[in-house]
Amino acid sequence: MFAEVNGLRMFYEERGPADGEPIVFLHGFPFDHSMWQHQIEALEQTYRCIAPDLRGHGQTTTLGPAQQPGQVSIAHMAEDVIALLNDLHIQQATVCGLSMGGYIAFALWRTHAPRVRQLILADTRAGPDSEEARQNRFRLAELVLAKGSTAATDAMLPRLFAPANLSSRAAQQIRAIIERTPPAHIVNTLYALANRPDSTALLPTITVPCLVIVGEHDAITPPAEAELICQRIAGAQSPIIVPDAGHLSPLENPTAFNQALADFLRR
Ligand code: MLT
Repeated sequence: MFAEVNGLRMFYEERGPADGEPIVFLHGFPFDHSMWQHQIEALEQTYRCIAPDLRGHGQTTTLGPAQQPGQVSIAHMAEDVIALLNDLHIQQATVCGLSMGGYIAFALWRTHAPRVRQLILADTRAGPDSEEARQNRFRLAELVLAKGSTAATDAMLPRLFAPANLSSRAAQQIRAIIERTPPAHIVNTLYALANRPDSTALLPTITVPCLVIVGEHDAITPPAEAELICQRIAGAQSPIIVPDAGHLSPLENPTAFNQALADFLRR
């Protein structure tokens, strides 16, 4: 389905009963809504599951002139999510974000906390990029502009999956998604990621129930980052560690991920 919101023709998948409790799934970079397929299948009997393709990703396109690096921000992407919720007449939702989706979840909490019923923070971090990480993003942006989106797959794939999952179907699926993403969109999002704010100070302000979950072998946002998030959110449980999974824990070990999700949602 598509919604015209915030200057976008935004694709989103919606499944489950219209009167079910809404859960919004926010994918990581540079993926699309389909990375949540196993979670949606597990929850759609009961929950109203909404999984958009975020700005610059998947089937979502901008309605105005093409955007330039520096014009897209994580805050901007959070406003897109709010515009979609408004369009769907959803006042409050559980927000489940992975990695970049987690950065967007923090941005939602920063400016639209009453819209957030509870938070599921998967394979993400609260802190900003180090200067080295920023420079790596700018170098990757140059490489993607020169060589195309396959440069992003070559650079990213080995760190996205646990070594044992690198030749899995999930890894092939992610490779195909990244390679379909236009280079200019990858570059715009790399700048948005590099320029995102530090959300560490926001953590003690989080008062809604929060699940923090991470792949055992996550090399991008390792379990130590999940620990740091939990330590700063009053009353948060320890992070759930998903075994046999890297950065894409919902895809790499959906059984364990979905169990944690179900346990959290049924509390
Ligand atoms: C993601 O999965 O969204 C990215 O790894 C986020 C990042 O590079 O910081």
